[in-house]
Amino acid sequence: MDTEQVLHMNHGMGDNSYANNSIIQKKVMKEAKPILEESIMSLYSIIQPQCLKVADLGCSSGPNTLQMVSNVIDIVDSTSRNMNLKPPVFQFFLNDLFENDFNNIFKSLPQFLETLEEKKGKKFGSCFINATPGTFYKRLFPDDSLHLVHSSFSLHWLSQAPKKLGNKENVHITSTSPAAMHKAYVEQFQKDFKQFLKLRSQELVPKGGMVLTLIGSDKTREFRTAWSLIGITLNDMVLENLIEEIKLESFNLPSYDPTIEEVKEVIEEEGSFTLQSLESVVLDWGAANINEGVENNNNKFDINMKAEFTTKFVRAALEPLLKAQFGEETMDQLFLRYKNKIVQLIMELEILEFPTHVISLVKNV
Ligand SMILES: C[S@@+](CC[C@H](N)C(=O)[O-])C[C@H]1O[C@@H](n2cnc3c(N)ncnc32)[C@H](O)[C@@H]1O
Repeated sequence: MDTEQVLHMNHGMGDNSYANNSIIQKKVMKEAKPILEESIMSLYSIIQPQCLKVADLGCSSGPNTLQMVSNVIDIVDSTSRNMNLKPPVFQFFLNDLFENDFNNIFKSLPQFLETLEEKKGKKFGSCFINATPGTFYKRLFPDDSLHLVHSSFSLHWLSQAPKKLGNKENVHITSTSPAAMHKAYVEQFQKDFKQFLKLRSQELVPKGGMVLTLIGSDKTREFRTAWSLIGITLNDMVLENLIEEIKLESFNLPSYDPTIEEVKEVIEEEGSFTLQSLESVVLDWGAANINEGVENNNNKFDINMKAEFTTKFVRAALEPLLKAQFGEETMDQLFLRYKNKIVQLIMELEILEFPTHVISLVKNV
């Protein structure tokens, strides 16, 4: 299975769509906004382009995609005003893999641009929005053509999953995985992230900025990941002959959650960027804010609702990959069972958390 061809988030605006199940990713963007502000202010202290070129890599499709555009415009607008500069013209390049639901983004553009004009007034610089399909592990833009690269919640996806290495029942690293499996995942991450940095350093102008967020891990604390329960659920289905054993035996998820140290090591080794900041924020993947604007409060929602929320968040991201391997007909059953496992886990642990790394880099001259 070629990851590039099958990896994408659930399309459309339906109940299981990414667009309707990406509140956690929205929270991640909110957490990273102060870092984005710092990065743009520091870029503007050196370069004041007439046309600011920004790429969002792994943009997916849904409210978060254009929220990123809005955030950048607001920050640049206030930075330019503070510096008594005319706001630039904006050119955004929205990138994702070929199967991404770009049409859904395009359909929301007229409303977005109209609201932008109402908010900012006619004198505000124009905003051009382009789509750039393709993998961010290959070149996407000409040399020295971008001022800012943004990528939120995407870089934990690898270009391909490591081959199965004795982890028959699991589809991802767990605490019981063999050492060879850890090694294979780390090596794939190092190779991919190094390649990503090298390519972006070619595409960014000197002193261009990059703000990245990705799911991470922390060796000092054990976090239960959403992915590990998928393996357990699939294994149960194999035992009940609902899924062919061979299909589980040949499948690993193409995703790795690096530690802060692993991220730093690759940045230093690759050498094209200076690390401005790298911090980790711990977020709740077990029903953080089911309704927008409602503070996370464990008493407000019953466990069933929390498990439903978490299952939809995971389904929106993993269903296309799992469907390609295990068949569409198994998906409802898989996620029903998955939800029951989440109910048990919430009862055991109460809070399901994961660390997200927020990284700010500047390209060396
Ligand atoms: C969880 S979504 C995040 C989307 C959005 N940035 C947000 O914050 O809501 C991750 C996205 O990264 C994309 N992605 C994964 N690997 C990629 C690659 N190699 N090249 C481009 N996009 C990729 C996926 O298709 C998916 O749409």
